[in-house]
Amino acid sequence: MDITLLQASDLIKNGAVIAVPTETVYGLAASLISSSAIDKIFALKGRPANNPLIIHVADYEEILPFIYDVDADFFKLSQNFWPGPLTIVLPIIEGKISSRVTAGLKTAAFRIPNHPLARKLLKLTGPLVMPSANLSGKPSATCREHVEADFGNDFPVLDGGACIKGLESTILYRDTDQKWKIIRQGALAQGDFYEILGYLPEIEKPKNHEKPICPGQLYRHYAPRATLVLKDNILESYQGVIVGFEGRTYPVGCKVYLMGNLDDAESISKKLYCVLRKLDDDGVQEALVDIDFAKDGIFSTILERLQKASSK
Ligand code: TXA
Ligand code: MG
Repeated sequence: MDITLLQASDLIKNGAVIAVPTETVYGLAASLISSSAIDKIFALKGRPANNPLIIHVADYEEILPFIYDVDADFFKLSQNFWPGPLTIVLPIIEGKISSRVTAGLKTAAFRIPNHPLARKLLKLTGPLVMPSANLSGKPSATCREHVEADFGNDFPVLDGGACIKGLESTILYRDTDQKWKIIRQGALAQGDFYEILGYLPEIEKPKNHEKPICPGQLYRHYAPRATLVLKDNILESYQGVIVGFEGRTYPVGCKVYLMGNLDDAESISKKLYCVLRKLDDDGVQEALVDIDFAKDGIFSTILERLQKASSK
């Protein structure tokens, strides 16, 4: 159900949960100070309680009351990438943020999104928690139709069109060695941080039997019902469903779902979750995914999403 900006702000102030567009993916928004709305978010998504939420704000100053100090790196990162698809995890002053939001961690994740509607809403409401607006484990929502597919046509959506990025924000965390690490890959690639930090932040891959720094990494994610099989090389004899790229040739007779053109990474990011959701809409049981591409830059995030989407 389409709502206006003012309705969105009133609903939030009255403790409701609504869907809000950001440049990455749509978020399910609740006021940071409404514990009942925050409970609703976990219930609606079917989200495990040990998976914390990102706090979204309109302006950098709104974060300051929650954190101890602003070190030089945090300042530089925020100046360079906000508003934008970066989430920064910071140590927080005890007792300032509900443990429901942080899942009991001593840190919280913060982001200033770069979408005009999200920013206007944040200015009216103050800080909002926003997980991606999808049922837990499913592909994220990058347009209003995706939100409605998961939460029903009556669910209030502030419609901001299709998300420009189509991939979630990159999450940075400062490790005990004082180096920043990427704990969730996202719409900003590793190389994007080199100039600002003076080094490439390591991509933290969750190790077996170890608790990941980013709790969300514990869970199956981005996955359609269809079984996905990632393939570097699709045999000529294959006859079935393929998720592939524009401009490539695939065996005749295959049904092909196109994610975009490999010369244009953005076209792929934007279409990735649309294609994964379309497989389910069409009742596809199994598809081969063409992963014969250079896995650098943003393609490293795209590969990571496909790996998660195909995992059991
Ligand atoms: O692009 C995005 O980040 C979107 C839009 C709506 O802003 N939001 C999003 O939220 O992707 P969600 O809840 O789907 O993913 C947030 C991730 C989870 O994996 C969670 O575990 C992690 O952020 N996270 C939140 N707080 C954290 C913390 N204090 N330390 C480490 N990871 C944290
Ligand atoms: Mg999510």
